[in-house]
Amino acid sequence: MSEQEAKKRIEQLTHELQQHNYNYYVLANPTITDYDFDQLLKELELLEKQYPQFKLPDSPTLRVGGDITKSFKTVKHRYPMMSLSNSYSEEEIRDFIHRVTKAVGTDVEFVCELKYDGVAISLTYENGLLVQAVTRGDGVRGDDVTNNIKTIKSIPLRLRGDYPEELEVRGEIFMPHKGFNRLNSEREEIGEAPFANPRNATAGSIKMQDPKEVAKRPLDCIIYYVPQDLPGITTHYDAIKYVGSLGIKTSNNIALCRKEEDIFEFINDWNVGREHLPYDIDGIVIKVNSLLLQKELGYTAKSPRWAIAYKFKAERVETVLLSIDYQVGRTGAVTPVANLRPVQLAGTVVKRASLHNADIIAQLDVRVGDTVFVEKGGEIIPKIVAVNFEKRPVNALPVRFIENCPQCGTPLVRKEGEAAFYCPNEDSCPPQIKGKLEHFISRKAMNIDSLGEGKIEMLFDNGLVKNVADLYYLTYDQLLGLEKIIPAEENKKEKKISFKEKTVQNILKGIENSLAVPFPRVLYALGIRYVGETVAKKLTARFTSIDQLQQASYDELISVDEIGEKIAESVIEWFKKPEHIEIIERLKAKGVQMEITETAAPVSDVLQGKSFVVSGVFERHSRNEIKALIEQYGGKNVGSISSKTNYVLAGANMGPAKKEKAEKLGVPIISEEEFEKMIDIV
Ligand code: IVH
Repeated sequence: MSEQEAKKRIEQLTHELQQHNYNYYVLANPTITDYDFDQLLKELELLEKQYPQFKLPDSPTLRVGGDITKSFKTVKHRYPMMSLSNSYSEEEIRDFIHRVTKAVGTDVEFVCELKYDGVAISLTYENGLLVQAVTRGDGVRGDDVTNNIKTIKSIPLRLRGDYPEELEVRGEIFMPHKGFNRLNSEREEIGEAPFANPRNATAGSIKMQDPKEVAKRPLDCIIYYVPQDLPGITTHYDAIKYVGSLGIKTSNNIALCRKEEDIFEFINDWNVGREHLPYDIDGIVIKVNSLLLQKELGYTAKSPRWAIAYKFKAERVETVLLSIDYQVGRTGAVTPVANLRPVQLAGTVVKRASLHNADIIAQLDVRVGDTVFVEKGGEIIPKIVAVNFEKRPVNALPVRFIENCPQCGTPLVRKEGEAAFYCPNEDSCPPQIKGKLEHFISRKAMNIDSLGEGKIEMLFDNGLVKNVADLYYLTYDQLLGLEKIIPAEENKKEKKISFKEKTVQNILKGIENSLAVPFPRVLYALGIRYVGETVAKKLTARFTSIDQLQQASYDELISVDEIGEKIAESVIEWFKKPEHIEIIERLKAKGVQMEITETAAPVSDVLQGKSFVVSGVFERHSRNEIKALIEQYGGKNVGSISSKTNYVLAGANMGPAKKEKAEKLGVPIISEEEFEKMIDIV
């Protein structure tokens, strides 16, 4: 392919993929299969690698996330980002309508919209290209989160149609329920605390430093406001339709209302209809449609006088707390669960509610026998929000959180700064062992699909496996004929399962096949707390064998990008236990992959004995590449600057505190170029 042909093909693919993204994410009407889309994207990626000079600024390949952001730049909003005044009653809405009508002296047309429950964002387009995305911050200044926002596929990187030279639009970023629930179960799988609700998950996601991680978060965005004047446009409704015509995702659930009653109809319809939306809304926004009237009405210090939010009351019922169960998870965290007198709430019968942890129980001052208020938000599990103290039985006693594990009797512990109590008996507490085994065999870990939850339970209950290494020592004879009796239930007879020849062969084959699983996934499968898929990849990129990882010091661990104190401590603690070392040895003996096979061997020892602190963003290498180079040339990466550090290798945006410390201790600060000269790769 000639250069000219490559340029043309890149342009064509960029254009075509953009159209498919728009069809899929904005119109929800794809015209191509996911597979074909991925093929085109791969072709574009390859061409862009070969001919980086032709990569376009709005390339769909940017959606996977670019460089790491160390700290977000603060940016002043061109137009302040105001909030809305809230109301909770029909009366307040009537007051608002009358106030507005009186002030302008004529009948007023209103627009009713959904109030999305997420995080507000302001997007700026210049000559049709997305150039900046800023959070609300304090309303005057916000954080520049452009790199992260570019990964959200419903936000166009380039506008279509007849766009103005400069355009600013505002909207809400949110996480639909399906993606939220998936994200939370993945987090729970690796021992991370789940997000309390989709809004928190959204806020956490858009402030992450690695856009590649943001790209994995299922975020969406709807635009509901244009702060600037647009030629020929005189109403809010038309402004929204106009930006919609530029390829921006706006809401279809929007209504023009001339009569008060139309507004209430919209509110009441959505108060019920929101149950079926795939994302959370927390109310309705009512806006004056005419932009001229909006200007006339103006603003208070905090919010426009031309708009108001009606907030839905969460559906809430009263019931009785019958008892509290304590569940032990894979990581040993003990969660109190309330057993409730069954009650109808938002279309389902609620029997149980999460009580989260001991602090929440204390805060609510909830006692067994109490009449409690239960609410259901966007989350699946309802929660107890308050106690009706008037109905408290005289003999109700404060809850005493259990002190011993309900499964194995071990005294519970609470780590500093954490809300949950843990059972520390991680290697012999039954639900923890079973949980670890289930995690080990799961698809993203060792992918032993011939085993599942039920079979793991049978192996464990029969004393055949007590840890993940035992799986590799199972024999045909041990498994054949293994039985489990499922007790009779309502309308169902007692059932007996027993392992036959075929099942046993399948199980053993599945286990054997897992010997091919590469080291990063094996590390993830071990279930070390906080070591999820991504962390496992990052760790194994630097420490290419389990032995290297075991020997890594705290400083070395935290010098890896994205590896913080919490992870480093957890890894070190894990390797301290002789039981774990034994598991590793037994897995190794059976041939489980414990190192990365095709790693770069040391190239030279010019940096022998030299320690480096790497900071900032570099032009020609990613930070991890730089760190790998340091090691390949015999040097050592350390996490923090001390008088023993030989060099601080600084890129752009190096933190001022680091710079000051290096200068104070007299540690030389070198640039990427100087470093390249040192190892002679320029
Ligand atoms: S209009 C100047 N419309 O609610 C007013 N806001 O509590 C601009 N929100 O900060 C905002 N849905 O984050 C508007 N349809 C909608 C909205 C909406 C959600 C959020 C927004 C705002 C907050 C105010």
